[in-house]
Amino acid sequence: MTYNSDLTGHSREHVLVLDYGSQYTFLIARRLRENGAFSIVGDVPSPKTRAVVISGSPESVNSPNAPMPDPNFLNTGLPILGICYGFQALSKLLGGSVEPSEHPEFGPTTVKVIEQGIILNGFPSKFTAWMSHSDEVKSPPPDAKVLAVSENGQIAAWEIPQRKLFAVQFHPEVSHTEHGGQLFKNFVEFVGLDEKWDLRRFIAEKRDWVRSMVGGNPVLLALSGGVDSGVLAYFLREALGEDLVFPVFVDTGLLKKGEAQRIKRLFSDFRNLKIIDAASEFLNALRGKENPSEKRKIIGSLFIEVFSRYARGFHFLGQGTLYPDVVESGATTSKTSVIKLHHNVGGLPEKMGFELVEPFRELFKDEVREIGRLLGVPEEIISRQPFPGPGFAVRIEGEVTPEKVELLREVDWIVERLARDSGVYEETWQIFPILPSCMSTGVKGDVGVFGKVIVLRAVSSFDGMTARPYELPDEFVQKVVQELTAIPNIVRVLVDVTPKPPGTIEFF
Ligand code: XMP
Repeated sequence: MTYNSDLTGHSREHVLVLDYGSQYTFLIARRLRENGAFSIVGDVPSPKTRAVVISGSPESVNSPNAPMPDPNFLNTGLPILGICYGFQALSKLLGGSVEPSEHPEFGPTTVKVIEQGIILNGFPSKFTAWMSHSDEVKSPPPDAKVLAVSENGQIAAWEIPQRKLFAVQFHPEVSHTEHGGQLFKNFVEFVGLDEKWDLRRFIAEKRDWVRSMVGGNPVLLALSGGVDSGVLAYFLREALGEDLVFPVFVDTGLLKKGEAQRIKRLFSDFRNLKIIDAASEFLNALRGKENPSEKRKIIGSLFIEVFSRYARGFHFLGQGTLYPDVVESGATTSKTSVIKLHHNVGGLPEKMGFELVEPFRELFKDEVREIGRLLGVPEEIISRQPFPGPGFAVRIEGEVTPEKVELLREVDWIVERLARDSGVYEETWQIFPILPSCMSTGVKGDVGVFGKVIVLRAVSSFDGMTARPYELPDEFVQKVVQELTAIPNIVRVLVDVTPKPPGTIEFF
């Protein structure tokens, strides 16, 4: 990954989480923020870096490709916390030894605390921690105080307070580790940033920033119906007043049931709200198109065309770009960057010379949700699951016809209702149906039928970059099957159990 220091909050006092390729770096940054320290993910410290976390890596510290912090770095006087790979890297750099373990530890492991020290302050004498390592620290650095060992006798934590160095073998950032939050709290207290990370202050600060940026000019904003653009609309209205905020909603005809009416209702206080009904244009453009990436491209460019017709004359475009999008767009091979580009009406700024207003680019999604709550945004907007910009077109195999969209929209409506009624909606990152083109044999009544198949996808995820299949409760699955097979031409329901990677969250 590459990082652009202008974009990622280096101008604010922060804890830097070094990225060595672990999937948990963003989660660590989140946990630090929850405990009051602004934190960013990156690869080089800046003058505003106040502490560093060295996190996980898929490499072994003994492999020739192992990423290592610059040893000089340990002498800067900044507090450093090593986690998992970071624990082993620090151990090795400071003269300890790291070797392949005879008993690799994976999953929940009991850890015994010998001494709380600073970093384990407040921990009980035994706790469950999440481990994921096949190398082991055999001997700690000479001046380190060992604080904890695992039930298998492996060193699980040490610290060298006089050098401000702390290291743990387990993953305090994952929810399976007991008291993980306490560990971050201890570290953040030790670091002692001048400014506590606080979203109320963030709102006040960004309000002034937006006002001075746009200087009384109108701001256009593409509403998607989702959390980021929805909260942004409320934030901009609060900052600039309703006369200057122009939310536009393009109905592509590929959206959930009743979406345009929902937008009208939820944004009824926005005097300048514009709803563009472009459903027939989109469906016409998609006629006969079967290739998934071609379908996406057609939708993307038509969206820009439709939006542009209305957008002439505006100079500022509000976008709900978030922190993971900013970091990801620095990456050269990232698919997510492409995704967000479309989502955030990519291409528009360059084509129309817009100046972007992106007050949320330092934030994580759940921070945007919290800001929404502080601003009184309706919960219906805040707690909504993500929905892809190209809508049902990426959930229908082959040609997108009005009949297929109509069927999937109805099925989606049923699945969402049942998911909300059973609590599955709140527990998943996304749950949705897909319409493949295969057909299947079934019996309805006493008659054999040849009908359609629906695939159900439910995933848990932190930010959409990786995902785990969510194990659906039997009772819920049975209800879904019952209601969906009651639809005349549906005979079968399948459940997708693929994680990401290798499967993307969306199907096409
Ligand atoms: P994938 O399918 O890439 O999805 O694993 C990751 C997250 O992004 C959403 N997604 C999209 N969002 N435009 C969007 O606005 C898109 O083209 C798009 N494709 C995927 C997806 O729903 C998931 O949350």
